[in-house]
Amino acid sequence: MSDTVHVLNGPNLNLLGTREPGIYGAATLADVEALCHAEGAALGFAIVFRQTNSEGALVDLIQAARGARGIVLNAAAYTHTSVALRDAVAAVGVPTIEVHLSNVFAREAFRHHSFLSPVARGVICGFGPQSYVLGLRALAGLPPTP
Ligand code: DQA
Repeated sequence: MSDTVHVLNGPNLNLLGTREPGIYGAATLADVEALCHAEGAALGFAIVFRQTNSEGALVDLIQAARGARGIVLNAAAYTHTSVALRDAVAAVGVPTIEVHLSNVFAREAFRHHSFLSPVARGVICGFGPQSYVLGLRALAGLPPTP
């Protein structure tokens, strides 16, 4: 079984640290990446960490994760809009943990719906960068996929 986990990030997450810090906190995406590498090392995962602002590019990144141990996916705003991402997650058949920094259910109603949740293995939100760590730990605890 592959030990590679792809941590994929969608639009505007490159702005973490300066973007609405009252909601998303002070950590930068580089901080989140460092956290994922540290947790990945502890769990025995090789981490591929990527960010894109483009929906199609995120589809490509999900497809590129085929055969991986898992995906930790913060699709950001595309979570709430994208059938294409939902179909990509379903197509690759890789256990995918949907994560969000903020508690989307405590925010605007349009953030309460996710196209990804029905095809995700599980959802973690509201813990800031720790949401990613919890996502990696969730993957580590899953039974091996054939
Ligand atoms: C987010 C929540 C989304 O609603 C929002 O569009 C984002 C970030 C989060 O991590 O809290 O860009 O995915």
